Amino acid sequence: MNNLVRVSRDNDIAVITIDNPPVNALSPGVPEGIGAAIDEMNNDPAVKAGVVIGAGRTFVAGADIKEFGKMTAGGPRRSLLPLLLHIEDSRKPVVMAIHGQAFGGGLELAMAGHYRVASPTAQVGQPEVKLGIIPGAGGTQRLPRLVGVAKAVEMCTEGKPMPAPEAVVFGLVDALIEGDLLAGALAFARDAVGKPAPKTRMRTEKLGTDTDNDAVLAGARSIVAKRQRGLKAPLAAIDAIEAGTKLSFEEGCQAEAKLFTECLFSDQSKALIHVFFGEREVAKIPDVPRETPVLPVNRVAVVGSGTMGGGIAMVFANAGIPVLLKDVGQAALDVGMGKIRKNYANSVQRGRFTQAFVDERLQLITPVLNYDAFSAVDMVVEAVFEGMALKKEVFAELDRACRPGAILASNTSTLNIDEIAGATSRPEAVIGTHFFSPANVMRLLEIVRGNKSSKEVIATCMQLSKKLGKIGVLVGNCRGFVGNRMFGPYRREAQFLVEEGAEVEAVDQALVEFGNAMGPLATGDLAGLDVGWRIRKEYRHLEKPGVRQPFAEDRLCELGRYGQKTLKGWYQYDENRRASADPEVTTLVRKWSAEAGIAQREISSEEIVDRCIYALVNEGARILEEGYALRAVDIDIIYLNGYGFPAYRGGPMWYADTVGLTRVYQRICEFQQKHGELWAPAPLLKRLAEERKTFAEFDKEQVVAA
Ligand code: 3HC
Ligand code: NAI
Repeated sequence: MNNLVRVSRDNDIAVITIDNPPVNALSPGVPEGIGAAIDEMNNDPAVKAGVVIGAGRTFVAGADIKEFGKMTAGGPRRSLLPLLLHIEDSRKPVVMAIHGQAFGGGLELAMAGHYRVASPTAQVGQPEVKLGIIPGAGGTQRLPRLVGVAKAVEMCTEGKPMPAPEAVVFGLVDALIEGDLLAGALAFARDAVGKPAPKTRMRTEKLGTDTDNDAVLAGARSIVAKRQRGLKAPLAAIDAIEAGTKLSFEEGCQAEAKLFTECLFSDQSKALIHVFFGEREVAKIPDVPRETPVLPVNRVAVVGSGTMGGGIAMVFANAGIPVLLKDVGQAALDVGMGKIRKNYANSVQRGRFTQAFVDERLQLITPVLNYDAFSAVDMVVEAVFEGMALKKEVFAELDRACRPGAILASNTSTLNIDEIAGATSRPEAVIGTHFFSPANVMRLLEIVRGNKSSKEVIATCMQLSKKLGKIGVLVGNCRGFVGNRMFGPYRREAQFLVEEGAEVEAVDQALVEFGNAMGPLATGDLAGLDVGWRIRKEYRHLEKPGVRQPFAEDRLCELGRYGQKTLKGWYQYDENRRASADPEVTTLVRKWSAEAGIAQREISSEEIVDRCIYALVNEGARILEEGYALRAVDIDIIYLNGYGFPAYRGGPMWYADTVGLTRVYQRICEFQQKHGELWAPAPLLKRLAEERKTFAEFDKEQVVAA
């Protein structure tokens, strides 16, 4: 035994407690401790059965993910399989008592027990696929034996948690324990003494026939190909489960182990593990420590009930926080509330929410036409039209209407937070909360730090983002903040490529094949080409003379082609907004390019991807160097959650690391020679390339320096 696993006695039952905070991961020492505890139980004649339980907030969250990096770097390979066989072959019954989560290796451990009992709020699942791997300790073999092939395929390919009550229905958990879990598990164990203990691996009754399974597996493969395009692990999980239906348990485990190793050593898994830790890393802000006091956010107000304001109000209501929703006139408010109702009705129709849930949420949103009730709110999110004069006017009004200490946040996507804060007497309470459209769907929340935003206000917004189901990333106050600032050069290159002779669909297709959710030109059509056009007109005076600027999108806008909203943009759209190529666009762009003297040529998909993605990377490197993002991984998390960048590539900065920064730098230098000034390599990129370092190493240096 060791200090990670304790054994105590409750009369004739051994209680084996796993105590490896924070989540009882199966780090080195834990499997050994469990194995020794099982031996101790079997060797003690006074003990009749055992209960395995987790200390703290959870049962076992799985293998220790940090160990995977060590394994792929050449460290020792560890397998849980022998331990699980050892538990299953125990002469005395073992009851697994689950609270919190039994995920990944945690569920595999639980399935090796003879019985599983759980608290009603517990969750079980095989989320390995989210890390680019498959269950590697017999999960693909034992799970189908307990829940059937179809459910096992669903759990291993989607990786979603299953609530304990559902796990009981599927036979994965034997009983729910209301109240004290340990007491219930002990009673369950006493009852099991003297009865034959079922071994999961011996069970075959749910494995189904080959004919049934062939149909299930073929269906699953085609769903995965569509919904998890480009991901290898879900297909590997299906292969492993299939092996389990055709081979013996031992042979199935061997097949699983081979597939697990292939996945673990893949670039996809390395990227997804980077994302797992990255999503947690972004919550860590060097000068705003975890213990920074947070302010209460129990009531909020949203100003502006348009596209964003309505969505933001829904986000708060969905988290159970009452919201006042203000607009200037009844008509605007009615439109705003109408859209919210319609959105909720769609969610009910799609089965996402129940009608009762929606009714409750709608009760939490109170439409108002003035600031009278604002004195009672803890926070306001402003989402009025984008314009500095209006924003300042609204913030001055909010400053008068809200109580001292209330947070005043702006959803601006381009404006200077410090200038907005200057319109109030409390710049320390002002911050940017940049939601992404549609606000009730998109996970990203850029939290924009003004130069006077207080640490309490920052900590509160970071914590609030989690409560709202968002991933909050702190960014600095520069034009476009992080995400949109990088998106500019990315979309600029997409336009340049068309102006140089690439077809519109070829540009989008290359980036979709790269893994992006949508191509850059189709994204422009969706968001509205006029949005960027208006912004560019406002900032035209900042453009350097003689530096090439794209023209195609501005010209399309001049022709009234704003994208989906006008049914014409880069593409043409039918009344159901289905896109098709528009030959008129090709003709127009070719004509404009000829007038501008831009030579036309064949452009490969490789060049399309390099130009668009390296434009992101180069701007990302500048942002990093200028300190507007805390770490490269913060940029990655922004791109994965706000811009449809493929998670299995880890984000733009991680992707650049995998290509190699020397190669990325050289390619950017080539582009600079051909296309000029706009491609000047970011000094940080040049330095890292010369030092043969990565952005990930840069992040580590930052942590050490902090
Ligand atoms: N290994 C190592 N560290 C882990 C971990 C794991 N399996 N799970 C969580 N952690 C760490 C987190 O990095 C975080 O560390 P930090 O505080 O230093 O940032 C800390 O534990 C707390 O985690 P969260 O912030 O995520 O806490 P929550 O309470 O929000 O969530 C959880 C808890 C639901 C358990 C969530 O952490 C989770 O989903 N964990 C991952 C589960 C998983 O993927 N398991 C499968 C692992 S692979 C496997 O088991 C392979 C097997 O088949 C052999
Ligand atoms: P919108 O035009 O859909 O809605 C603006 C709303 O504000 C309108 O209902 C208008 O009546 C109301 N309004 C104007 N002045 C007001 C006042 N003084 N008091 C109360 N309400 C007032 O605009 P949208 O798209 O929702 O944008 C709002 C903000 O969010 C802008 O700052 C924009 O830059 C930002 N944003 C927009 C995104 C988008 O995709 N639309 C994405 C992220 C941020």
